[in-house]
Amino acid sequence: MTSQPLFGQPLALIDRIVEVLGDEATKEDAVLTTSFSMEDQVLTWAVLEAGLDIDLVSLDTGCLFPATLQTWKDTERFFGVEIRALRPDSGALDSAGLSQIYASTEGRKACCNARKIMPLKAACSGKKWWLTGLRQAQSENRQSFQHIEEAPAWGLRKFHPLLEWDDAAVEALVSSSGVPVNPLYQLGYSSIGCAPCTRPVLPGEDARAGRWWWESSAKECGLHRS
Ligand code: ADX
Ligand code: SF4
Repeated sequence: MTSQPLFGQPLALIDRIVEVLGDEATKEDAVLTTSFSMEDQVLTWAVLEAGLDIDLVSLDTGCLFPATLQTWKDTERFFGVEIRALRPDSGALDSAGLSQIYASTEGRKACCNARKIMPLKAACSGKKWWLTGLRQAQSENRQSFQHIEEAPAWGLRKFHPLLEWDDAAVEALVSSSGVPVNPLYQLGYSSIGCAPCTRPVLPGEDARAGRWWWESSAKECGLHRS
C-alpha cells in the first residue's frame, strides 16, 4: 500500500471511514460494493489503507464489459485481495431476461432486480453498513443524498464517504495511488454499468447520460433509488 505519508483529503477520508465503522469492522459488519469505477477504486484503496477487513463485493450481472472484468482481475492483483462476486439466481432470470430491457422501464427494472438487487440483498443480510462510491456530482437525482442514510429496505445504513468529492479530487487520488482504471474511461464512457445499458457520453452531456440512455427515467436501477 502507500509508502508515502498521507495528508489532506485522502487522510480525512480514511479517518472518516474509521470514525463511522470503527477500527475493528469485519466482513460481518460492513460491505463495500464496487463496480470498479474510479470512485469505487478510491474507496477500496481507503478501506484497505485503513486496515479494515470488510466484505468487498461486486455484482457480476453476467452483462459486464470484458474491460470491466479485466479491471476486476487487475484490482485484485493490485490490492492482493479477493473481491467476492455476487451472481444472479438462474431461476430469477427466467422471468426477467434481457429481452425486455428496451421494451419498457418496468422490463428493464425487472432485469436490474434479478441481476443486482436480489443478489445484493442476500449479501447485506445481517450487516450494519453498506459503503458506496456515490457522489452528488454524478446526477441531479443524487444531489439530495446524505452521507449516511437509513436504508430500511436493505436492513442497514448506507454510507457514501465520497458524496461531496468532485471529479478532480477523485482523479488526483486515482493517479497518486496508482489503482487500476477501467480502460473504457479513455473511450468516452464516464459512468460504466452493464454493457447493454451503457454507452459513451458526448461532450457536454451529464456523466450518467450514457446509462439507460433510451429512457427518460431518473436513470437508477433500484440500488440507490428507483
Ligand atoms: S448504478 O446504480 O447506476 O449502477 P453507479 O454505477 O452510479 O450505480 O454506482 C454507484 C454505486 O453503486 C457504486 O459506488 C457501487 O457501490 C454500487 N454499484 C453499482 N454497480 C455495481 C456493481 N456492478 N457491483 C457492485 N456495486 C455496484
Ligand atoms: Fe439488466 Fe441492464 Fe440492469 Fe444490467 S443494467 S441488470 S443488463 S437492465
